[in-house]
Amino acid sequence: MAIQLSDKPLLEWAGDSLAIGLFEDAVELTGELATLNEKFSGVLQELIAEEEFTGKANTTIFTRVSGNSPIRKLILVGLGKPEAWKIESLRRAAAAVGRVAKKQKSKVLGFNFPLWNDDPTASAQAIAEGVQLAIYQDNRFKSEPEDKGSQLKTIELLGFAGQEAAINRANQIVSGVILARELVAAPANSVTPITLAETAQQIANEHGLQLEILEREECEKLGMGAFLGVAQASDLPPKFIHLTYKPEGTPKRKLAIIGKGLTFDSGGLNIKGAGSGIETMKIDMGGAAATLGAAKAIAQIKPDTEVHFISAATENMISGHAMHPGDILKASNGKTIEVNNTDAEGRLTLADALVFADKLGLDAIVDLATLTGANVIALGDDIAGLYTPDDVLAKQLEQAAEASGEKIWRMPLEEKYFEGLKSGIADMKNTGPRPGGSITAALFLKQFVKDTNWAHLDIAGPVWTDKDNGYNSAGATGYGVRLLVDWVLSS
Ligand code: BES
Ligand code: MN
Ligand code: ZN
Repeated sequence: MAIQLSDKPLLEWAGDSLAIGLFEDAVELTGELATLNEKFSGVLQELIAEEEFTGKANTTIFTRVSGNSPIRKLILVGLGKPEAWKIESLRRAAAAVGRVAKKQKSKVLGFNFPLWNDDPTASAQAIAEGVQLAIYQDNRFKSEPEDKGSQLKTIELLGFAGQEAAINRANQIVSGVILARELVAAPANSVTPITLAETAQQIANEHGLQLEILEREECEKLGMGAFLGVAQASDLPPKFIHLTYKPEGTPKRKLAIIGKGLTFDSGGLNIKGAGSGIETMKIDMGGAAATLGAAKAIAQIKPDTEVHFISAATENMISGHAMHPGDILKASNGKTIEVNNTDAEGRLTLADALVFADKLGLDAIVDLATLTGANVIALGDDIAGLYTPDDVLAKQLEQAAEASGEKIWRMPLEEKYFEGLKSGIADMKNTGPRPGGSITAALFLKQFVKDTNWAHLDIAGPVWTDKDNGYNSAGATGYGVRLLVDWVLSS
């Protein structure tokens, strides 16, 4: 599928499907649209009236047209109220069009959309991202897919001539989001610590990044007892993945992105019971997926910032050599942890990854983790929890969330709650009381960062969507990639 840019007048455009964006309560056809309506004997006006189309955000209507025009379908999409128009509104409207075009088997789709904020570059990028993310279909695991997916060959953005760089940027980001979606959607017998490391290797080879994979023995030497405690029941070897993007010349900043990489979370001996969603726990590497997706995008974009992409990848399994509940582990910073619940494994793997990153002498670390059910209870499926003692980093991430449309909400890092993690025998327990469970999880992580500005994003909710929302099909969302890319580029 190719995205083309043109300044062809609307009335001369000759693809099979034409999409037109209209603001809410401003659906009168004027100028070129009035002429287009006349050209099709008033069918646009009739469609708007018959379907009582008001231009409400992301509503779509379409009609088949006949006559001697090559255009077969006209698609109208609501853009919502102009005063509430954000870049994300434009992205979502483009996605809504993409869905209709996919269903209608469009081959050549034209966009006649207004500019957001008089900014053709941001607008072209948002449209290109939205439509591609919406038409993406994952048929990897179907032998004979019923829905063969989009037939779009060409997308043409009218009035956007010269915006090639924006389309390029959109394509780079989309490639990262799709990688993340595919990693999360793939089951645990397909994506393992080994294949995650192979994916990192592919990114490194393709885009010239440095890659270091620490095997179990090397992790032992570094004293990563917390990570290895989680890994010890699995028949698969743990892989500590460290991928580095270095710009040419002196980097402006040095950052780390760390992703929780549990390719399956059974809970361990505190095994997840019926109704716990154990069968969905392939998603527990959503942080690692976002990290690798961001790596893929950033490696292509080549900003002047050095970025380390890190994941301590393993499975949380049961076997004769599994951790016992109550075992005491020692992390690589020397702190001891009483594992009072083996299902709070993510924070154990992250502990050693944070210590590792903290020693790299960086300006900031952001970790992403499907860490707690408590965060989902607090913020639902669409919003990640942000936990950080650093107001500057919080602001940067909030701005990146606004621009990318990937929502976050800052939660309190209430130090007093650390009391819930006090242990009678070790330096701390890995699990506190149920109330405030996502906060104690974040406070646990904080024990492993000493010298670097740090923020934690609990993405247990947004990494997956149960139903198609017009933007994301039901399934893996690729959440985090767009947020991270925006953060790296703008901070
Ligand atoms: N991977 C889970 C968290 C999770 C829950 C992710 C729902 C995605 C959807 C994590 O390892 C876990 O099991 N957390 C426990 C912690 C508890 C034992 C303190 C939880 O949230 O119940
Ligand atoms: Mn768990
Ligand atoms: Zn987990």
